[in-house]
Amino acid sequence: MSNNTKELEDKIEKLGFQLANNIFDTIKTLQFSLDLTERYYENSHSRYVGEMSEKMAKLMSLNEEDTFEVRTAGLLHDIGKIGFRDTALFKTMPEMNSRELKQYKLHVDIGREMLYNHKALYGVADIVYEHHENFDGTGFPEKKQKSQIKVGARIISIVDFYHNAMHKSMKLDSISDLSQKSNAMDYLQETQRKFDSVLEYIDDQKNIKFDPELVHLFIKLAESERKRIEGFLVKRIHIANVKPGMIFAESYYSSSGLLIANKGEVVANDSLKALYRCVESDQIPQKLLMLADNND
Ligand SMILES: [Fe+2]
Ligand SMILES: [Fe+2]
Repeated sequence: MSNNTKELEDKIEKLGFQLANNIFDTIKTLQFSLDLTERYYENSHSRYVGEMSEKMAKLMSLNEEDTFEVRTAGLLHDIGKIGFRDTALFKTMPEMNSRELKQYKLHVDIGREMLYNHKALYGVADIVYEHHENFDGTGFPEKKQKSQIKVGARIISIVDFYHNAMHKSMKLDSISDLSQKSNAMDYLQETQRKFDSVLEYIDDQKNIKFDPELVHLFIKLAESERKRIEGFLVKRIHIANVKPGMIFAESYYSSSGLLIANKGEVVANDSLKALYRCVESDQIPQKLLMLADNND
């Protein structure tokens, strides 16, 4: 290979990398806007759906590009709710009147249209559009069924349901008191009954709401996530030693009130970036209350 070709290839690779970073920054900005819309839940719902959906995609051995799409669609699945009135946002579907229901169902169309503005997000937009389809064809907007529904949308549908079922109804649940506990076992025991009943419901919905193969994978994943933290302790850890996989035992906000990290949330690489920024500007303390392995 000539020097020129090599130089050109390096340049293209660098540009590609910059472009991917730019796209990711755009996605994070969108996700923050969505979190503001849903802030009353204070459960970093979209981040959770993004991260668990990514884990599911990896378990399904999807390629890197498809995995990225699934994760991004998870982060942005409800982006079309931006601009919703509070009344429609904080009701469950059976509680909505027909006008609210009609508006609610439009969030998948709005989400797709918003994301279609970015060529690199076309695939993501299509997944977002389908995340309320049911496996048996009774969902919306198009009543698609089985493999007609994109695999990413079938994944997000389960993760989204699980997180809402575990957290939305618990309001001031035991995660709120994580800072008062000394280890993860107390938290796990308190939430065990809820966890079992949510998983049982998901299992019952095989072939109805959810893809049976994905249900099987998800149950295994959710159980192993809980097993992973069994030996974790609650302790203060300096930001420099906070690592992906640990869990926040306390919520942290920027000085403007934006939720940076949520109690119960698993530390991910990109949440660390925002944390460092806030610690550097003294918006949050240097030592954070974490659930972590005894050796950390
Ligand atoms: Fe949705
Ligand atoms: Fe959601």
